[in-house]
Amino acid sequence: MKSIRNLLIILGLVALAASCQKPQPVVVIPEPTEYQAKRGNFTLDEQTILSFENIQDDATFTKTIREEYQKFFVHTPGLSEGKPSKGRYILFSVNDKEDDALGEEGYTLTVNAKSIQAKANTTKGLFYAFQTIKQLAYPSKLADAKEMLIPCLKMTDNPRFGYRGAHLDVSRHFFDTAYIKRYLDLMAAYKLNKFHWHLTDDHGWRIVIDKYPELTKVGAWRPERDSWDTLHPVQSDEPMTYGGFYTKEQIRDIIEYAAARYIDIIPEIEIPGHCSAILAAYPQFACDDYPYTVAVGPYWPPKAIMCAGNDGVLTFYKDVLAEVADLFPYPYIHIGGDEAFNDNWQVCPKCQARIQEKELADEFNLQQWLMNEIEVYLKGIGKKAIIWDDVVSDDMQIFSTILGWQGYDAARTAAKHGNDVILCPTSHCYFNYYQGDPDKEPLAMTGLITLDTAYSFDPMPSGLDKDAQKHILGAQANLWTEFINTPEQADFMLLPRLCALSECVWTAVDNKDYRTFLKKLEYHKPMLHKLGYNCHP
Ligand code: ACM
Ligand code: ZN
Repeated sequence: MKSIRNLLIILGLVALAASCQKPQPVVVIPEPTEYQAKRGNFTLDEQTILSFENIQDDATFTKTIREEYQKFFVHTPGLSEGKPSKGRYILFSVNDKEDDALGEEGYTLTVNAKSIQAKANTTKGLFYAFQTIKQLAYPSKLADAKEMLIPCLKMTDNPRFGYRGAHLDVSRHFFDTAYIKRYLDLMAAYKLNKFHWHLTDDHGWRIVIDKYPELTKVGAWRPERDSWDTLHPVQSDEPMTYGGFYTKEQIRDIIEYAAARYIDIIPEIEIPGHCSAILAAYPQFACDDYPYTVAVGPYWPPKAIMCAGNDGVLTFYKDVLAEVADLFPYPYIHIGGDEAFNDNWQVCPKCQARIQEKELADEFNLQQWLMNEIEVYLKGIGKKAIIWDDVVSDDMQIFSTILGWQGYDAARTAAKHGNDVILCPTSHCYFNYYQGDPDKEPLAMTGLITLDTAYSFDPMPSGLDKDAQKHILGAQANLWTEFINTPEQADFMLLPRLCALSECVWTAVDNKDYRTFLKKLEYHKPMLHKLGYNCHP
């Protein structure tokens, strides 16, 4: 009798514990526009049905959601076309009539005990709703580990900026396609939508160009060195064992993978500097006859520059860009323009003749002329250029979108000039810089961007009127890889600063709060660990 009474007491306590289980806070990164938390949870388990309504013929969307669902929740959901008549379900539906407040990327989410309903004007909005659902899910402590709970709520969400990007330098160190996909997964989880793929630089050329095969035969390879820290030029007998490149087939596969996650890819072909890898393969494009090699280690300042007086150089760039344009569907191509040290131009007869011929004031204007030739060419083949902010001046002739890395001043000048601008200032967006005390961190690029600094970033420069503000498209994180040579180290430098950046580009300023963000991270980090990402503690 006594044992039955004890059992009843225990059962009673378990039931009480279940009903009192502290409600899970609503943890979503980037912070959504608005939501009201409700009592109770939706239980997601093997009985949950995935249903789709009004998706029209976007087979990619339903396939991606099904695959991601399976991967994340580790079971295969039941499927239904339209709202199922019974059972617990998650319904994704595209609005019949466009909801102006949601735009192209927004969504609403209604979670109650029986169903989760996501609505949007586009499948892109629904894809973001799904990212939110994954983040909201937490394991039910009292039930079997396969069961996840999602707190009941009503949510509306919409981004602040249309351009929300992340960059990866695959030249200083090469990252294979498996890692590129992981990187894209991470971007998608934080609703980032532009991948800036830095494919060419002094330390390696990473994309096959059919017309110039030596770019990847020679330009993609350099000696393998243990350390980036000592300058020690390539020796003639050193084996070229470090490197790699992407075939067009691999690139098409990556483009498709990114598109399924609503990420546009912006390939970068550096013009006219950061070109040692080109000159190692095609020395005829240099101003001089210096024996250029693919660079190793801290090659600074980079002397290599393409000869702007050589017509063959223009032909080379146009040929390369034609193949790049053919491959990548997104209208934008990044054409570099940064850190073009023009010492060689100052003494090159061909470059000086070009300055005379075009009646240019100096070498800076020679670069403007060259970049302008290329942007006009791109326009002719239906593409648009993005250029680093080094080309910005008060009287610039450049009409491309400017990527502002050197602070807010050039970005401000460009926006006032009428150019579109994307921000990635070294003060907030260079995630290759240290994130903590350099004495305690793995070797990184000199500079410090702590998590709170990254979080404090506002992409909108001050002092712009309404018209100029319209030219600020958004921002991106940059990951230069001089000191990052493994996927684990790349994750470590990105996370959790990429989480912070996502709030800077998605969340309205009034809705951002660093203390809340830190609390959210505590709940959020287990998800990153579950997905196998290496996050800075
Ligand atoms: C840059 O960091 N040189 C754009
Ligand atoms: Zn020259």
